[in-house]
Amino acid sequence: MENYDVKDTKLAEGGRRKIEWAEREMPVLRLIRERFKKERPLQGLRLSACLHVTTETANLVHTLHEGGADIVLTASNPLSTQDEVAAALVTHFEIPVFAIKGESNVTYYKHLNAALDHKPHLTMDDGADLVGTLHKDRRDLLSNIIGGTEETTTGVIRLRAMAEDGALEFPVIAVNDAMTKHFFDNRYGTGQSTIDGIVRATNILLAGKTIVVAGYGWCGRGFALRAKGMGANVVVTEVDPLPALEAVMDGYRVMPMAEAAKIGDIFVTMTGDLNVIDQHHFEVMKDGAIVANSGHFNVEINIPALEALSVGKRLVRPFVEQFEMKDGRLIHLLGEGRLINLASAEGHPASVMDMSFANQALAAEYMVKNADKLENKVYSVPDAIDREIARIKLDAMAVAIDTLTEQQVKYLHSWQEGT
Ligand code: ADE
Repeated sequence: MENYDVKDTKLAEGGRRKIEWAEREMPVLRLIRERFKKERPLQGLRLSACLHVTTETANLVHTLHEGGADIVLTASNPLSTQDEVAAALVTHFEIPVFAIKGESNVTYYKHLNAALDHKPHLTMDDGADLVGTLHKDRRDLLSNIIGGTEETTTGVIRLRAMAEDGALEFPVIAVNDAMTKHFFDNRYGTGQSTIDGIVRATNILLAGKTIVVAGYGWCGRGFALRAKGMGANVVVTEVDPLPALEAVMDGYRVMPMAEAAKIGDIFVTMTGDLNVIDQHHFEVMKDGAIVANSGHFNVEINIPALEALSVGKRLVRPFVEQFEMKDGRLIHLLGEGRLINLASAEGHPASVMDMSFANQALAAEYMVKNADKLENKVYSVPDAIDREIARIKLDAMAVAIDTLTEQQVKYLHSWQEGT
């Protein structure tokens, strides 16, 4: 096998068992894998994937490999890798992986470049770092590429900005835009896994706490719902009047962060933007406040400002840094401000990643079949693929639904009928 860089291949057996455990909850991807094995739609294509290296991702890359892709995998975040999974992919699945949990930013980009040395025809990204690096530093590789796919909101925003600038050099499918992705992964996946990350890191009781959620997109909605279910008093901060209004009507208190900062016990950012929790917020926080991020990048909490305000810091538990302020207050930062659901927990459960990664696999197949018709733009997953994934998922859950009668179809297509 080519080069790889993982923590320790001796971890492989434990990784394999966990990959198999996740697979049990991924019926849609399993069906796609069976078909891919027969049809080999990605035969002869080199694919570089930049994704969180988890048990669910292992099931995706295995599926793409069975579909004929010559695939390498690099981490999409320095702190999200499951080292056992990386080891298992290398040892048992013959897939080169470049990822070590806790790697520095320098190693992160070294790994990303190693994945690009594979000279991909297809890219698969989560956050658009692979596509960004290709366009900035590895332009010599662009002519090989037929297209890419992108997993997450943050990545899609970056790619749309590139397309608007006329800078994007190949078509990309925005997997995040599929309904079977963001309705479920962003909402129920982030909702549950963010709670999981906070609880695993801190072991605190959420009931009775005031939890401040910054951002009421699909992730914020899901997390607020689950935090409320755990008995927390949820406060939402927003900049957009529409989701802010929705949050009010969903029963949450909505206020500016400057106000929320004074009353919150736990703060979670999921906005995709910079310095959402900033110096003046830290200045008014209560003693013992806990601050975490569940957005893609570690930019939402102004960590340099927190460092500057503090007179000392220490690691009090894995993933919990305690900062002492000049006035003696303690503020706790979780997981270095990186996405807490993957830093201190295992990310979204397999059952939702099943649909996200079914979209990835089918989007890659669609890209191969249609690349010659696509322009250098960001495309949505075709509606037929989205609905097919929902249909298979329902089947796997043994949930039946109704079918329109002929009369109902006719009614829906007519405009003459009224009262
Ligand atoms: N993003 C969020 N959760 C994930 C998971 N379990 N695997 C891969 N990417 C993810």
